[in-house]
Parts: sequence; structure tokens; C-alpha cells
Amino acid sequence: MSEDELGESIKFEAEQYIPFDIEDVNLDFQILGLADKANMMDVVIVAAKKDKINEYVTVAKEAGLSPVIVDVDAFALENMYELNYEVKQDENVAIVNIGASMININILKGGGSVFTRDSAVGGNLHTEALQKEFTISYASAEKLKQEGSMEGISKEDVAAALTSASEDIIAEISRSFDYFRDTTNYENINEILLCGGGALTEGFVSMLAEKSGINVRMVEPLKNIHVPDSFDREYLSKVEPVISVAVGLALRSLGDK
Ligand SMILES: Nc1ncnc2c1ncn2[C@@H]1O[C@H](COP(=O)(O)OP(=O)(O)OP(=O)(O)O)[C@@H](O)[C@H]1O
Ligand SMILES: [Mg+2]
Repeated sequence: MSEDELGESIKFEAEQYIPFDIEDVNLDFQILGLADKANMMDVVIVAAKKDKINEYVTVAKEAGLSPVIVDVDAFALENMYELNYEVKQDENVAIVNIGASMININILKGGGSVFTRDSAVGGNLHTEALQKEFTISYASAEKLKQEGSMEGISKEDVAAALTSASEDIIAEISRSFDYFRDTTNYENINEILLCGGGALTEGFVSMLAEKSGINVRMVEPLKNIHVPDSFDREYLSKVEPVISVAVGLALRSLGDK
């Protein structure tokens, strides 16, 4: 088949996997290569509701920006990974991005994505736990989470509330890992590469390592990027965990595949 014909037939095949009217979504695909079976190929399909994309585009425009590429968090993270890390052929690396309301997981096998999953939990759970535990405003809870202490509230009580929210988040990550293992003949996960602001909560990294039994590393999205001296290094090192998706997005350019 020609590339065009292939595009048409992939769109046709995709229809059965997409729970919306095909006219309501933007669709793109990437051929990963030939599959093990004869006359078969592995293809990644991404579908996004047009409504959702329009919302994002509107926000970007209102901020005075002109969007040229729309990408998926999990794949932006994969590009960020390729730039900064040496691919290990015989290892599975799980990139886990914990945002405010969303966790993106992308498991790479020998550098190629074999599993992606988003879950609707994140650092908001920590904030809500503090809000509820100490009957304070959301803004105060957010401040308390990031600063670690507040007058009249003991550090131990804060830690306890955060721990219970972390447990919920880690349980969700474990469910995704179990699902990955179930669907891949019990493949091992060799390493977790962690990013996103939700991972910055006190004690989270060590707890994830302990509960999952997997080695956890914080991502370094600027590792292989030359940063001019005019940038504030201290500030950059603070925001590094939360700019991983942005770094991956910035690597893309118009028209690339
Ligand atoms: N120093 C910190 N300590 C604890 N939590 C933090 C810290 N800095 C940021 N966070 C939390 O990280 C989350 C935001 O992270 P991030 O910027 O990665 O998410 P996002 O991409 O905006 O969210 P989403 O992907 O869910 O839409 C928030 O829940 C915020 O409270
Ligand atoms: Mg995010």
C-alpha cells in the first residue's frame, strides 16, 4: 500500500477503537515497524477530541502564543527521554509524570514505547488531604504542602496526611504496572523515571521505591541541553521536574514525524 492508502485504511481500522464519532476527533498515526507476524505492522494511533484541542488552542492564543504542534504528554516525555538518556536495549523504563490532576505513564522497552496509560489522580490529592485534615482553605493547604509547616500544625500530622494521599497515588501507579505486566507476559520494569510536580511532595520518591520495589530516579530534562549562564540555575534546578513535558514539546518542529 502507498502511504496515502495506508492512512485511509488505518483511519478505517481506528474507528472501531475510538468511542466517539470519528468526525469529532483529530487522528494521527505512526508506523512503528513490522510486527512479528507476517504481513502485519505495529501502528500507534492517537485520537483527540476536536473540542478539547480547540480549548487548548484558545488558551494558548489568549496567552499571546501561536500553537504550531499538538502532542500527547506521554510522547513528549519520550522525546525528552531520548534527548537526555542512553537507550538501554534490554531494559524497560517507566516514565511516570505526576501532575496536579493527571498521571501519565509511558513504559519504554529498548527505547520504544510499548505501554501508555493516563490516570485521573495527581498532586491535588495531597492538597485535598491537607485541606480536609486541618480544615483550611485550598490555597493554605497548597502552601502547607510546598512549605512543609504552618503555625499550629505539627509536622508529624502533615506527614501523616501526605502519606495517606501518596499511598492512593502509588496504588494507582501500581495498577497501571500490573496491567502492563498482565498484557506483556509479566515483563519486568527495571527503572522508574519520575517527573511532574506531584512527585515533589515530601517522602514521595522513597515511598514509591519502597512500595514498588523498583529503582526510582528523578528525571533531568535539561541534562543534555546547553543552558546559557544568563539563566538562574537555582531556579532551573527547582523547576526541572515540572518542565519535562515542555522540554519534550520544544524538541518538535512543524512538519516533523
Ligand atoms: N514543591 C512542591 N511540593 C509538593 N508539590 C508540588 C511542589 N511543586 C508543585 N507541586 C504540585 O505539583 C502539581 C503540579 O505539577 P505539574 O506542573 O507537573 O502538573 P500539571 O502538568 O500542571 O498538571 P496536570 O498534568 O495534572 O494537568 C500540583 O499538584 C502542585 O501542588
Ligand atoms: Mg502535566
